[in-house]
Amino acid sequence: MSFSLSRGRGYDTSGFGLEAEDLPTWDGAVLDPRCLFAAPDLPFELEIGSGKGTFLVQQGAVKQDTNFLGIEWSREFFRYAADRARRNQLSNVRLLHDNGREFLQHKCAAGVVDVLHLYFTDPWPKTRHHKRRVVQDETMAHMHRVLKPGGVVHLVTDHVDLWAWYQDHAERHTHLFEHQPFSPPASAGDGEVVGTNFERKYRREGRAFHAMSLFRRSVEESNCAS
Ligand SMILES: C[S@@+](CC[C@H](N)C(=O)[O-])C[C@H]1O[C@@H](n2cnc3c(N)ncnc32)[C@H](O)[C@@H]1O
Repeated sequence: MSFSLSRGRGYDTSGFGLEAEDLPTWDGAVLDPRCLFAAPDLPFELEIGSGKGTFLVQQGAVKQDTNFLGIEWSREFFRYAADRARRNQLSNVRLLHDNGREFLQHKCAAGVVDVLHLYFTDPWPKTRHHKRRVVQDETMAHMHRVLKPGGVVHLVTDHVDLWAWYQDHAERHTHLFEHQPFSPPASAGDGEVVGTNFERKYRREGRAFHAMSLFRRSVEESNCAS
């Protein structure tokens, strides 16, 4: 089923939205996504499943000295968010139309990401669909690989079963990440955890939220711990 968020206005994603096939030819060599920005030396944060781009637009405006890339696999949401970044003239925000898990596993260079954001990712509640969740054992390893030393993954969800899944994965990978409490970003509103579109929608429904931060351990640290 096709649908449109634009109410007939149309989107202009030029300069802000990138299709996966527009990435530099991928021949097995990995990509440094910081090179997608005019100022590639700035700190770099990646959001997987950026939806309408609410977090990117809010936080990108507050932290203009940081580059933000959102990866979204719904074409409609990708176009909506890229158009929104363009309308807000956020030169530090870009959207990529791609599968975030594949990007992490096959395309992203190692040691380039300062912060990874996963907010309200699809819970895929049926057991036979759990393999579609973004967080998997192999994703944990790839998140560790793409993060810079000292980098962090932020996870927020309303879904009790997905939260248990996150806790299990965090416990199974203590050699890679140290689990710490989550602190809201500067752009979150009063009483908000992170302030995404889905958080606001679910808050109106009275749902509770769960959040954690996973700090990347250095390889030396993990070797010492084992
Ligand atoms: C429930 S929505 C949350 C959107 C946004 N983070 C928020 O909190 O408002 C989940 C989004 O993740 C996208 N998504 C799911 N799996 C993805 C993947 N593997 N790569 C990129 N995007 C994905 C979906 O298309 C959807 O837009």
